[in-house]
Amino acid sequence: MKHLLKLADLSAEEIFSILNLADQLKYERKNGVDHPHLKGKHLGMIFQKSSTRTRVSFEVGMHELGGQALFLSDRDLQIGRGEPIRDTVRVLSRYLDGIMIRTFSQQDVEDLAKYGSIPIINGLTDYCHPCQVLADLMTIREYKGSLKGLKLCFIGDGNNMANSLIVGGIKTGMKVSVACPDGYRPDEGVVAWAKENGDLQITSDVLAAAEGADVLYTDVWASMGQEGEKAVREAAFKGFCIDKKVLGAADKEAMVLHCLPAHRGEEITEEAFESHAEEIFDEAENRLHAQKAVLVKLLK
Ligand code: CP
Ligand code: NVA
Repeated sequence: MKHLLKLADLSAEEIFSILNLADQLKYERKNGVDHPHLKGKHLGMIFQKSSTRTRVSFEVGMHELGGQALFLSDRDLQIGRGEPIRDTVRVLSRYLDGIMIRTFSQQDVEDLAKYGSIPIINGLTDYCHPCQVLADLMTIREYKGSLKGLKLCFIGDGNNMANSLIVGGIKTGMKVSVACPDGYRPDEGVVAWAKENGDLQITSDVLAAAEGADVLYTDVWASMGQEGEKAVREAAFKGFCIDKKVLGAADKEAMVLHCLPAHRGEEITEEAFESHAEEIFDEAENRLHAQKAVLVKLLK
């Protein structure tokens, strides 16, 4: 494994190996065991969109591993003034040991890997969010013991979260259902791959998708960069919400996850969110452990 550009690039063995290391690093941290695997290493973090969890967990994670993280906002980098990403990465490859990038286009992330000579980590694009889903898989495994055979139901927009959950879910042996409005379906390539390699259901019927689910997952109706579509999306996504009825259709032990930030009253009710807050904030915590595992795998 040279980069983390998307989960489709990883084998099931590589995913489980990251999850196992993440569990170990979490255990060590809770027991006060230092693990300076990345002493003297530097990670550049390029952000072209906002972030709370990704930024802080990568920065703290690098520090805990004995290395250092540099926050590089595109407002300050020359990228913001038009310097090509392929030149930027050829320069940064001379200073840094790895780059994490959050941006719009998946192609930009792929280009960083193509033109640079250091590991590249995708911290979210419009297409996928692999770091989030590694933390999600870790959290599901913590609560349910194993992943194989579970039903994972995603309700909402078929963009980055749905695409990565489908790939991560199928690769780890889960059945995946997605409820989305027509016109907001997941990436066609991802759907075709999933149908060939596992059990994927796509529907606009929220209760059918949630039927018997072990994990219910949702995300915002309007993602970063789609703020101008808010009103159109509010109309299109009405009812694509984790509420009492959806919880009633799922398995009675079902867990609820949300990548956050959450919009209560839109994709999830206040009650559904708060009654599953423990899982949701464990999931947020696990960003730290899962990403530390990725950093060790790529940068050590
Ligand atoms: N879930 C997630 O990626 O959160 P941030 O946008 O705060 O990084
Ligand atoms: N779909 C959301 C995920 C945020 C973590 C977005 O792209 O804004």
